[in-house]
This record gives sequence, structure tokens and C-alpha cells, in this order.
Amino acid sequence: MREVVLARPGDFAEWRDAARGLLTGGVAPENVSWRGADEGASLFGDNAPPASGAAISLPRELLAMADRVICHRDPTVPARLYRIVWRGLRDRQLLARRTDPDVDWLSKTDKAIRRDIHKMHAFVRFRRLGEQAGRESFAAWFEPDHYILRLTAPFFQRRFYGMDWAIVTPDARAIWHDETLSYGAGGTKDEVPDSDVVEDQWRTYYGATFNPARIKIDAMRAEMPKKYWKNLPEAQDIAPLLAGAGARVERMRGAAVSMANPLTDKWRTRVADELLLDDDIRTLNDVARAVDHCTCCPIGCNATQGVAGEGPAGARIMLVGEQPGDQEDLQGRPFVGPAGQVLNEALEEAGLDRQRLFLTNAVKHFKYEPRGKRRLHQNPTAGEIDSCRWWLDKERALVQPDLIVTLGGSALRGVTGKAASIASMRGAVHELAGGTKLIATIHPSYLLRLPDRARAAQERAAFVADLAQARKLAA
Ligand code: URA
Repeated sequence: MREVVLARPGDFAEWRDAARGLLTGGVAPENVSWRGADEGASLFGDNAPPASGAAISLPRELLAMADRVICHRDPTVPARLYRIVWRGLRDRQLLARRTDPDVDWLSKTDKAIRRDIHKMHAFVRFRRLGEQAGRESFAAWFEPDHYILRLTAPFFQRRFYGMDWAIVTPDARAIWHDETLSYGAGGTKDEVPDSDVVEDQWRTYYGATFNPARIKIDAMRAEMPKKYWKNLPEAQDIAPLLAGAGARVERMRGAAVSMANPLTDKWRTRVADELLLDDDIRTLNDVARAVDHCTCCPIGCNATQGVAGEGPAGARIMLVGEQPGDQEDLQGRPFVGPAGQVLNEALEEAGLDRQRLFLTNAVKHFKYEPRGKRRLHQNPTAGEIDSCRWWLDKERALVQPDLIVTLGGSALRGVTGKAASIASMRGAVHELAGGTKLIATIHPSYLLRLPDRARAAQERAAFVADLAQARKLAA
């Protein structure tokens, strides 16, 4: 019997090297005993053969699954994975045999890991530690079900690139500092501050956007399981908010104010509780379905639905606005309200066919303040734009436009990731990483707000000229 001792649970490279040595040595799965360092060595095992440099060719999908599944806490995982890999080398169609018990186990275990990753992406909450040399630093405590920190840290690196942070879990910690990602030992909850200003803002926001007429407790529990509540600042308010929900609905009825959106329930039943995991988002349709469930910032709580971009996947020009407005929120399509009308007319004058463009927004949910029967647009914060960039980046990666036109300041931040003024960027053609060109112009709603007619006409002509320049560039 060969014995392999794995020192670092969830470390794919360690398992892979050991498995490669065994495979090249022709050691059958039934002749290997896998154990964790904390289980101690057996008295009777031979050491496993050392890792071999020989290349082992396995289906890419199997390797990707093994990379995730090795993070499962079940101690039998390394052995089961080795058996599957051993079989996969002899049967290239193995993964297609869905009823095979090994394949069934692999797919269920993989799903558990991907769900855990998804929950971590959604429920990590950073607390502010302070500021050093102009960079803010944050820390978060999180208890994942499995050893998934290695799989999730790159997501936070992309999303919170501009600040320093640490995510502490009981098994390990990830540290993003000086634009370098590193890992260290696990820690405890008391290393991370209990609450901070950001947390208070989050709670206030959650309370303000909590809509008592839209409560679906089962859906809420499915999406935000109770075990995560203890580390979510907003969760401590759920019970009191729920307790007062009935009275609030009555008050709303009495005041003839409707925060409840008539289309909400219809939409929710249409998409049911389908929850796409990050890795499953491969098409623009996937983005459109998944964006509705996004909980990375609190805006979505009160919106009817997430509004993803629309247009052909091969569009050469992408137009990016700020966020859906009232009409867009109800219809689930970008630029279908008053600003959309201004945009349509300007596009026509500039010789651009809307059907051939990809239209989207920096932020995918409508942020508003209820005022009587109206819903008043509120600007998204820089943090909200930054956390929504993940969706915009997905759309950009799928469409791969040659040229992006940003409409307004929020769009400019969404695309560039920086606070830049329109005035400083307008009138020139910029190049983004990867070679995509960028033109920055105003938001069409700005034209709706200008009281002076002559000024409005002037600004409108400049806007049309920017769009015409985009047409020429893309041609
Ligand atoms: N304003 C925007 O920025 N986007 C829309 O989709 C509608 C209005």
C-alpha cells in the first residue's frame, strides 16, 4: 500500500503532484492510502512515489472540476478524485456517463463547491481598518463550508483592486496588499472589527430599501441562508423589519403610496429561483438572468429586476449609460424611457442604427428614493459602480466591442475604474487595456435638464457630433 500525506487541505497543486507521481508509477487507486497531515502517518504504508514531471493528459473539464472538488472538506475526496482521474485516463468519455456513481458524486460535489464560492462572493462584508499612504484598508471575516479561499480570492482582487484588504477564515487568510495577493494562516473572528461606518451605512440603506410589501421569506432564506446572517451587518435588522412589515404595509396602503412594483411578482415567478453560479455565466442571456439575483450591493433590494445590456453579441460599438431608470426597471430593457428617447433621436442624426449597437449600463439595478407615488432617481455611489463593474466586464468580454462610448460620469467610472471627469476626456479617442477604443461624452438625460433652449441645442449638437465620431471610428 502506498501512502500519501497531504499537508495542505484544498491545495490542488499538492494533490496533483502526488497524483501525477502515482499515475506515472502505475499505482492503482485501491493500492493508495490518502491522509491529511493531522491524521498522522500509518505504521505500515510505503511512501508514495515522488512527483513526476511526466505530462499526463486528462480532459480539461475533469481537471477544472478536480481543481474545485479538492477543496471539499470531506476527507475521502483526494482518494475519490484519484480513482476518477485513474479511470478518466482509460476512458475519455467517463464524464459523459452521468449515471456512473463516481461521475454523479463528482458533479454533486462540484456543485456544492460552486455554491459555496457563490455564497462567499455574495456575503463577504469588509470592515474598514484605516488608511495608510492614501490607500484604505479593509478586513472581512468569513466562514466558508469548504477550503475555497484560493478559488474566491481572485474575484475580490478584481473587484476591490484599488484598496488593501484581508479576508480571514478559520482555515487560511488571503491578503491583497501592494497589488500582490498572498495567503497566510487561518485566524479568528476577533481579528476583524465588529462594525464600522460602512456597516452602519449598509444597515441604514438596507432598512431604507426594505420593501415590506415584497417579502418572500422562503426565497430570502434560499438566497441568503440563515447561517450567513451572523456576519452580515444588514441581517441583524431583518427580524425587526419583518416584525414591523405588516404595520408598514398598512401605513403604505393608508397613504396610497405604492413602493411595491406591480411587475415584481410576475417577473419573479418567471425567473423562479434560478440562481446562476459565476462559472455558468457564458452568454449574454446568462448575464441577463443572473444579474437579477445580484446582491453585491444593496440597490437590487428594491428594484423590479436587474437590467442587463441588449444588442447583438458581435456589436462593434458598446454604449454604456449610468443605470436603468423608472421605465427601464419596469420593462427590463436599457434606454426605453425619456433619456432613451433623446438617445434614439441623437443616434439617428449621427447615422447610427440602434439595432446594431450594444446598449448597457454601469449599474444594473435602478437606485431610487420613493417620494409619494414617484420613484426618484438617485445617483449610484462610486462603490456601487465599482461592485457592478463585474457585470459590465462580463458583457465587455462577451461582446468584445472595438469602441465603447461612455454616456456620463458614472459610465466613465464603470468602464475605466477611475474617477475621471468627462471634461478631461471628452473630444479625444482613448485606448483601454486590450486595445478597445473609448469615447467619453455626456449622458442624454443631461440634455433633458437644461433649462436654457439655446444652450440645450448647443449641447445636443455636441452630443450628436460625439456619436458621429464614434460611427466614423468604428467604420
Ligand atoms: N439612463 C441610463 O443611464 N440608462 C438607462 O438605461 C436609462 C436611463
